[in-house]
Amino acid sequence: MHQPSNVSVYHTPAQVPDLHGLVVVIDVLRATSTMTMALANGCKAIYPVATVSKALELADILGRQKTLVGGERGGKRVEGFDLGNSPAEYTRRLVDNKDLVLTTTNGTLALQHGQSATLLLALSFLNLDVVIRTILDTDPMPVHIICAGTDGQFSLEDSVCAGVALKRLMQGGRDRFRPGDGTHQALDLAEQHESDILNMLQVSMHGQRLIGLGFEQDLILSSQMNQQSVLPGCRPLPDSGQPLRMVALEI
Ligand code: MLT
Repeated sequence: MHQPSNVSVYHTPAQVPDLHGLVVVIDVLRATSTMTMALANGCKAIYPVATVSKALELADILGRQKTLVGGERGGKRVEGFDLGNSPAEYTRRLVDNKDLVLTTTNGTLALQHGQSATLLLALSFLNLDVVIRTILDTDPMPVHIICAGTDGQFSLEDSVCAGVALKRLMQGGRDRFRPGDGTHQALDLAEQHESDILNMLQVSMHGQRLIGLGFEQDLILSSQMNQQSVLPGCRPLPDSGQPLRMVALEI
């Protein structure tokens, strides 16, 4: 019998120490929902990068003909980019068999904390069960759930998603996991909001901001639990200097 593995939830990336083990990043509105949709629609690989200049530079290196550049600043598509950060934009017609370089204000930044992970996964409500099943099927190791938050602050939707994921993990893993820092708040939030995810997104601060920008449809899509069975992930090579490359991992 293995020792139980620690599970931690970081409600903002600022709390995150150097991480090893299994790292799960959540940015429900909207980066990890967008990544899920892009890979579900045949995108070959997603390179999440921290800055606009890095995104354009990497897209040139990869070759603009087969590479899309997407993401947002201030919620809106960046000038010169092919796509914004609405999950519904990432249709099969546009993304099938293409690489995607993605940069968003918080989500792709939070993913950089997975650089030294054994396994890095991107989680949203859209693919929650697949991610949980994968964690349950993976060899025991510490699990770190990172909420991307908004501009360094807590964001309700990411912490609720962390709580729902954690609840499923504890139910599925029974004594396999030891709940650590940040888990109790996440579970409380899941208890309060799990029954109406869309409403929770609509009242959240970032949800309100997106509604103001005309992106209410993104909230509706991102609220749909387990609509996709895709597993966005990578096994980073620490210190390799290579950018993260997230693909639809075999389930
Ligand atoms: C982010 O990374 O900050 C978000 O994905 C912002 C957004 O809603 O586009």
